[in-house]
Amino acid sequence: MNKLKWWQTAVFYQIYPRSFADGNGDGIGDFAGMTARLDYLRSLGVDALWLSPHYPSPLWDCGYDISDYEAVAPEYGTLEDFDRFLEAAHARGMRVILDLVLNHTSDEHPWFLESKSSRDNPKADWYIWRDPDPVSGGPPNNWQSCFDGPAWTYVPERGQYYYHYFMKQQPDLNWRNPQVKAAMWKAVRFWLERGVDGFRLDAIGTIYEDPAMTPHRVPLDLAGLRHLADTAQTPAEKKRLARYWREMFQYQWGGPGLHDLMKELRALVDEYPGDRLLVGEDDDIAYLGDGDDELHLVFNFPLMRVERITPAHVRRNQRQRLARLDALPTRGWGCNTLGNHDSSRLFTRYGDGIHDAALARLNLTLVLALRGTPFLYNGEEIGMTDLIITDPSRLRDTMATWYYRALIEELGVPPAEAALRAGRMSRDKNRTPMQWSNAPNGGFCPPHATPWLPVNPNYAQGVNVADQEADPASLLNFYRRLLAVRKATPALIEGEYRPVHERARAYLAFLRQTASQTVLVVLNYSDKARRLDFSSLSKRPGRVIFSSQQGAPATCDLSRLEVADFEACLIELF
Ligand code: NOJ
Repeated sequence: MNKLKWWQTAVFYQIYPRSFADGNGDGIGDFAGMTARLDYLRSLGVDALWLSPHYPSPLWDCGYDISDYEAVAPEYGTLEDFDRFLEAAHARGMRVILDLVLNHTSDEHPWFLESKSSRDNPKADWYIWRDPDPVSGGPPNNWQSCFDGPAWTYVPERGQYYYHYFMKQQPDLNWRNPQVKAAMWKAVRFWLERGVDGFRLDAIGTIYEDPAMTPHRVPLDLAGLRHLADTAQTPAEKKRLARYWREMFQYQWGGPGLHDLMKELRALVDEYPGDRLLVGEDDDIAYLGDGDDELHLVFNFPLMRVERITPAHVRRNQRQRLARLDALPTRGWGCNTLGNHDSSRLFTRYGDGIHDAALARLNLTLVLALRGTPFLYNGEEIGMTDLIITDPSRLRDTMATWYYRALIEELGVPPAEAALRAGRMSRDKNRTPMQWSNAPNGGFCPPHATPWLPVNPNYAQGVNVADQEADPASLLNFYRRLLAVRKATPALIEGEYRPVHERARAYLAFLRQTASQTVLVVLNYSDKARRLDFSSLSKRPGRVIFSSQQGAPATCDLSRLEVADFEACLIELF
């Protein structure tokens, strides 16, 4: 296993800083809190941490609108607190990567304040400015922001519109201007020199648009499209919806230039020792370049972008992804995840309302057993669920507050229904504070403090770290055991993936295989126990290295393997 890089053997854990741990009791997570929880993370068995943005921000997009790339948000602490955190993580053998938002800044960033002040200031061309449409006098084209209506916002000081793929408080930088690049690379070096181990690159696909600014032809605006997303029922409506999503934004994505930019960033990062990592928030394997000259990783989002995880879906997904990774001149490395701060929590999303806990165990085993680097999201390990916030005044995700207003004002939806729909689409539901114990506020912050988002009351029903620590059968201890098994099993880290029993609809079975070790993974996605015959793989007894069943036998007969309903098991073959 020596030839592998650290990011190939690591399990990553995403920390959402605002919600993870509150060290100073103000209801907001911070670096003091994160540092205090490093021993917990070490004991969980994760190897690397990805922090969602920790920079100063007016919080229009919860930190993804950055107003200073070389500082720490005051509510999270100081640069010294950051350094202490990094050093303490490194001292425990854990790496840390930061979120890097290249596409846009906050509209309160000094670069933008200067850029918008006139047409001829030194930063006049740092953002994407266009004159009004000569005929209508309105925006230059019909492009939509994916968050809040039209993608163009007018600035009277310049008599021009600026472009924003996301909220109007997140103006897109003009990456064709070399000064922009130089300024951003300076910020990248700032953190690399402090010792961070790499970056997760936010929304890279949106960095370059179609230079011709071709208008889209979808007969709806963003509110209309989101409304369709809420109401589409029939297969035809769902198909139309998918086509509209694609077509509405097709000219705002993937414009020419990104591969060169990623190569440049990779060369910069490679100047630093220690194999610093770049992982792109994109699923396009093309951004790995030749496998070794652009990004190190892109996420396998197609795995998670389904309503249900089924054996057939996983097989198809792996066939497609691995074929493309293997075809790169320098073989590419996979990266699997089932949840993050933008998506409904996996416990809720892939549950069926009855077997949620069992399904969560199956899905975790899946992510940790597939070929590629796994990314976990904080709170997953205790089975945190979505919390739908139905009081619009408590929503902090401005994408949802915009939708609430649009539903009422543009689409005439009654306020109570609008509140429910906005709460459901909001990403707040999967960003609520980490539940540390069965104490007021889930132990996230003191009883007298108001947490920045409501704490899910199910902390009192066992969905918290302290209670689960004490219960050997808890989901938390399941995570721990499985992470330890992964670490001790080279085939699970570097082995080839080989599907077996490919026609089975109810269960997924595959091998992870190196020259010296073969592990059979069986995930029974059904509520029926089965007896399975894997004798074609080996006639000798298998060693059960992990099972979700309490008291599973240590060895098994592969010609008649007994698999319980919803069981996940890993068997070493000889
Ligand atoms: C992707 C991030 O994951 C999401 O949270 C954010 O809103 C957008 N990019 C814009 O930065």
